Amino acid sequence: MNAESISDSAIGRFFIRLLARLMESRFRYRFFGPEKILHGVEELRGKAVLEIGCGTGFFTLPAARLIGDQGRLVAMDILKESVELVSRKVKEAGLRNVEVLKGDALDTGLEGASFAAVLLFGVIPAPMLPLSRLLPEMHRLLKPEGTLAVWPTVQGLRRSVLKSGLFAAGQKRNGVYNFKRC
Ligand SMILES: C[S@@+](CC[C@H](N)C(=O)[O-])C[C@H]1O[C@@H](n2cnc3c(N)ncnc32)[C@H](O)[C@@H]1O
Repeated sequence: MNAESISDSAIGRFFIRLLARLMESRFRYRFFGPEKILHGVEELRGKAVLEIGCGTGFFTLPAARLIGDQGRLVAMDILKESVELVSRKVKEAGLRNVEVLKGDALDTGLEGASFAAVLLFGVIPAPMLPLSRLLPEMHRLLKPEGTLAVWPTVQGLRRSVLKSGLFAAGQKRNGVYNFKRC
């Protein structure tokens, strides 16, 4: 069963709404402030950035503000509900540097070598995003020496990313791993 078929079922929609409430809880904003986590990414201002799995936009709006008008953010999610919600929030916030796209991170269809950074925030580990397929696609999308930023840093993740041979170790800041595209 994939993400799209989950969102088509009543039970799937119930869980999506429940997850969305958790994602937007006051507790989360208070203890996992998105701005602080985003400051763990090496250099976002003025850059072309891709966010995978934007969800409710917890990171999208603060990221767009950090990137600023000289850069651009593409926020992608496989779920139509997320894309509609985040598009609405972006419009209400008057942000012009964000494009919200419905797409599959495993096969984005985006142009290669077009991003300086990719954010994998709050999306790994997930059965729908196997690293064996996700990492090659992120590698294809990043410019040479671009940054693959991952949060949170779950056990074994660093080893798996480095083992792929596609990325080199970079700095860890504010709990964010910054891997460099090889
Ligand atoms: C746990 S939520 C996290 C949302 C957001 N990053 C946050 O931290 O608040 C994971 C999101 O990844 C999306 N997702 C899952 N598989 C995906 C895929 N293959 N391509 C794009 N998005 C995907 C889900 O639809 C969901 O919105």
